[in-house]
Amino acid sequence: MSEEKIYTAAIVGLGRIGYSLGLDKKREQPASHTMALEGNRRIKIIAGCDKNAEACAEWRNHIPSAKTFSDSSLMYKNINPDIITIAVNEDAHFEEAIKAIEAKPRLIILEKPVATNLNDARKIQECADRNGVPVLVNHERRFSDDYAAAKSYMSEIGPLQEIQASLYSGMAVYIPGEDQTGAYSLLHDGTHLIDTILYFLEDINSPSQLIAIAEKESSTQKKDDNDIFFKNRNADSKTIMANSLLKRPVISGIVIDEQGKTRQLNAFYVTHSCPSVNVFMSGRSLFFGFEIALTGTDGRICIGNGYCKLYKAGESALYEGFKSLVADTETHIPKKTYYFANMIKNAVDFLDGKADLKSTLQTGINSLAILEEIKRKLV
Ligand SMILES: NC(=O)c1ccc[n+]([C@@H]2O[C@H](COP(=O)([O-])OP(=O)(O)OC[C@H]3O[C@@H](n4cnc5c(N)ncnc54)[C@H](O)[C@@H]3O)[C@@H](O)[C@H]2O)c1
Repeated sequence: MSEEKIYTAAIVGLGRIGYSLGLDKKREQPASHTMALEGNRRIKIIAGCDKNAEACAEWRNHIPSAKTFSDSSLMYKNINPDIITIAVNEDAHFEEAIKAIEAKPRLIILEKPVATNLNDARKIQECADRNGVPVLVNHERRFSDDYAAAKSYMSEIGPLQEIQASLYSGMAVYIPGEDQTGAYSLLHDGTHLIDTILYFLEDINSPSQLIAIAEKESSTQKKDDNDIFFKNRNADSKTIMANSLLKRPVISGIVIDEQGKTRQLNAFYVTHSCPSVNVFMSGRSLFFGFEIALTGTDGRICIGNGYCKLYKAGESALYEGFKSLVADTETHIPKKTYYFANMIKNAVDFLDGKADLKSTLQTGINSLAILEEIKRKLV
């Protein structure tokens, strides 16, 4: 029997998702790139890179056999890994993604969001295409067994009537002036929420993609002549890149605090497969919550962090002669989701030539286009 190939890996960014969330006793493990890569017998981590010396030293204690670097350019001069994982802060995604692509590994695993804006994301895509480097984006719910179970249950709930996607946290939804850092929840966690809606909708429609649409120019919006993807068409309208499935949102329920930060909003969409898709984001909550509820004519799927509840229309316990939603206790819902381990397995299967990537640069960019369209209504 021939020996299985071992793929070498290097990680740029050894912070929470790069390393330390893998030590969190409450999280389903593995919960960081280090632990997930380590947990796959087909992978050997050969190097880590962080500009923070303490982060490097702590990580090196965990994997003494690996090399550490404070600068990724130096790392790429010294080693040539099969997989490069990029787990740096949002504002460094663009620069580190370009550097990693130019190092020509066999695969890049890029943390979400792809970049802080669609222009940079499209430049990353152009660079990846030019260099022939595939990129997997870590939108983790695409790899999670509970979300896979929820998606397959869609055939049980009848035609979709409504999707309600909700995100609750204490982080402002949008902060003017933070476009470069991406430190606001519309981007930070909103990218997961939007990607998950697309994950559920994609197979019903054709796959989501970027399309050019005309947008009415508001008098308060500044024109940016350097913006290569948003070309002005005429004085009051211009062409923007939007997502084919979720486009032209109606924004309502905006709450702005005294510092000008958006604390709450609804983005409402009409789609071919579901006439009512509402995205609710709150940055004024004392708790963290992430939930998608899909209601069909015959049932409901309600999935969030730590739970997946399935319901079917059944004999009502409340009213004679009526049907109510009744919890489906027979369908198996996986308790352990393997969200991170499955992502790495997908990477290995892809490198073996056995599978397509389940979350790509294109799906990541699709989410970003939707977030950017919402943001354009706020500025
Ligand atoms: N998929 C998920 O569920 C998930 C969860 C958490 C974070 N993230 C994403 O992962 C990324 C990192 O988030 P985090 O919470 O781990 O942040 P973090 O601040 O804990 O870690 C980031 C690390 O990257 C290092 N770094 C930054 N720029 C660098 C550069 N140019 N070269 C080398 N090192 C650099 C920092 O020193 C830091 O140690 C963000 O994009 C975030 O959105 C994703």
